Amino acid sequence: MCGIVGYVGYRDAYPIVIKGLHRLEYRGYDSAGIALLDEELKIYKKAGKVSDLESHVKDIDMVGSLGMGHTRWATHGAPSDRNSHPHQSGNRKLSIIHNGIIENYAVLKETLLAKGHVFMSDTDTEVLIHFVEDIQQETGLDLQDAVRIALNKVVGAYAIVIMSADEPDLLIAARKGSPMVIGVGEGEYFVASDATPIVEYTKNVIYLNDNEIAYIRRNDLLIKNIDNTVQAPYIQRLELQLEMLEKGGFEHFMLKEIYEQPRSIHDCMRGRIYPQEGKVQLGGIKEYTEKLKNIDRIIIVACGTSWHAGLVGEYLIEEYARVPVEVEYASEFRYRNPIISEKDLVIAISQSGETADTMAALELAKEKGATIFGVCNVVGASIPRLTHAGVYTHAGPEIGVASTKAFTAQVTVLTLIAFYTAQQRGTITQSKLVEYLTQLNDIPQLVEKALKANDRIVEIASEFKNSSNCLFLGRGSSFPVALEGALKLKEISYIHAEGYPAAEMKHGPIALIDENMPVVVIATKHSSYEKVISNIQEVKARGGHIIAIVTEGDNDVRAMADYVIEIPETAEPFVPLVATIPLQLLAYHTAVMRGCNVDQPRNLAKSVTVE
Ligand code: F6R
Repeated sequence: MCGIVGYVGYRDAYPIVIKGLHRLEYRGYDSAGIALLDEELKIYKKAGKVSDLESHVKDIDMVGSLGMGHTRWATHGAPSDRNSHPHQSGNRKLSIIHNGIIENYAVLKETLLAKGHVFMSDTDTEVLIHFVEDIQQETGLDLQDAVRIALNKVVGAYAIVIMSADEPDLLIAARKGSPMVIGVGEGEYFVASDATPIVEYTKNVIYLNDNEIAYIRRNDLLIKNIDNTVQAPYIQRLELQLEMLEKGGFEHFMLKEIYEQPRSIHDCMRGRIYPQEGKVQLGGIKEYTEKLKNIDRIIIVACGTSWHAGLVGEYLIEEYARVPVEVEYASEFRYRNPIISEKDLVIAISQSGETADTMAALELAKEKGATIFGVCNVVGASIPRLTHAGVYTHAGPEIGVASTKAFTAQVTVLTLIAFYTAQQRGTITQSKLVEYLTQLNDIPQLVEKALKANDRIVEIASEFKNSSNCLFLGRGSSFPVALEGALKLKEISYIHAEGYPAAEMKHGPIALIDENMPVVVIATKHSSYEKVISNIQEVKARGGHIIAIVTEGDNDVRAMADYVIEIPETAEPFVPLVATIPLQLLAYHTAVMRGCNVDQPRNLAKSVTVE
C-alpha cells in the first residue's frame, strides 16, 4: 500500500529511484512522484503508473544525488496529480513521501489552517509536513528535532521519508506500522518499503523498527528512537536474488508465479520433511512443541487469499491433529472483543507480512497473552518480527498482485504444521505419516502435471470469457479452493464470481443458475465425491454449464459435465494444492482475453498496510 524509495550517495538518484518505483509498483499504482535535490528541491508527480511519470519527465534533465520517489494507493484524496506524493511544506523547503495513514490529520489540519497554512492537496501526508514546518517555525528547532516532535504527536501508521532544500545530504526516514528497509552501501544509502529496489546495489540491509527515525547522510547513518535515544542498527544479509524480480520470459508475473509452484512448494518443504522416517521438522516452532502438544484451541487470523489458506489449514489441523481451529478475518477479529487467553495459539497467515488488519489482530492476541505464530513469505517483514515463532513459506518474491504461489506455499506450511502437531500429540500413526509424507513429497511433480492442462484451460476460458457471473463449488477442503478460485477470477478479470460449499447452493444461490451461468465444480474422487455428483446434477437440471475439476481418468463426471479439467490423482489432504492450479490458470487466461492488466488489477495493491 504505497511504495517508497530514497537514495543518498554519489550516484545520480533518478535512475535508482525510478527503477525502485517500478519494483514497488505492486504496492499501488494510482500515481507516482519523485523529489530530487541538486541546487534546488524539485518535485515531479503524475496520476497514473510509474511509466506515466517517466513519460512526463522524459525531456527534463533529472539531476541530483539525493532523491526519493513514491507510488501511491489512494486513501485520503482521489488519485490525481495534486494528491500525488511527494508533498511539500508551505515554504516549499521540505518534502515528504508517506506510506500509511495519519489518523489525527483532521485535527492537526484544523489547527494549521487556523494558523494560516494553505494546503494544495486533500491528503493526510501534506498535513504532516506542514506540521513539521510549523514546529520548526514555532520553536526554532532543527529539522531532526522537529520531525521527532511531530511524530510523537501523530496517531496512525507511517513509513515516511523527508528531504529538505537546506540539507543537501540528508534523508530522514521513520516508521511506525508500515515497513521500511535501509540498504547500506559504501558512501551511499538506500531506503525503501521492501528490499527489491535495493538488492542490485547492496545485500546489507537494516529493517527499521517501529518508532525509529533514521538520519541518513551519504557517509553516516544515525538511528534514534522516537524518544531520542540512539539505537544500534542490526545489519542483515539479504537472501533475495535479482533474477527473482524479473519476468523470466513469461508475459506476466502472475503466469510466471503460477508456473513456479512446483519449485516453490518444493522449497517450502525442503529440509522439513523426512518421508522415510515419517518425520516433520519445523525449526521455527520447535521451541513451542510442548505448547502444541497441550493446546486446546488454535485461532487462525488472515485476510483474502491467506484467509482461504487458513480454511484449508482448519480442515487439516482438525482432521489430523484433532485440535479445534477457528479461522477469522483479521479485520473482524480485532473489533469484536474476542475471547482469547494465554492457553490459545494464534497463527497469522500473510504473504507480505505487512497486512495492517492481520498485524492489529496479532497485537491484540499478544496483549491478551496468547502465543502467536506467523506463516509469512517475506523474510524480516513486520509480522514475523512480532510473533513468538513461525514458519516461513519460502515461495520467493510474489510480484503479481493476485496471490498464487504464496497460497500453495501457505497451504503446504499448514499441512506441515498439521502433521507436526499430529505427530507430537500422537493423533496420527507413524505408518500413516510415512504414507502421507511420501505423497506430499511428490506434490511438486503432480503440480507440474496439473499445469499441463493449460491449453485445455485456454479453450475453456475463451468459451466463458464474456460471462458476467460465475459460481465455484467445492466440499470439504475443496470449499476454500472454490473460494480462492472465485477470488482469483473476480479480482483480475472483473467477472463477478462467488465460491460456495456445493451443498449450500440449494439454500439460495441455485436461484441464479440458468443457461448463462458457468459453474466450476471441484469434483475429485474423494470423500464427498457422490454428493458433489448430486450437486452437479442439480446445476445441470437448471441449464447451468459445468466446468468440472476431476481426478484423471474419471469418465462419470465427464459424461455429465460440459467441460472437464483433469488433475492427477492424489490423497485427500493434498487436493487443495493440486486443484488450485487449474483455477489460477482459468482466472489468468480469462483476464488476459478480456484485456485486463492481470499483474496490476484495478483498485488493488499487493501489500495492504492500511486498515
Ligand atoms: C488476493 C490477495 C489478497 C491477499 C490479502 C492478504 O489475490 O492477494 O487477498 O491475500 O490482501 O495479504 P497478505 O497475505 O500479504 O497478508
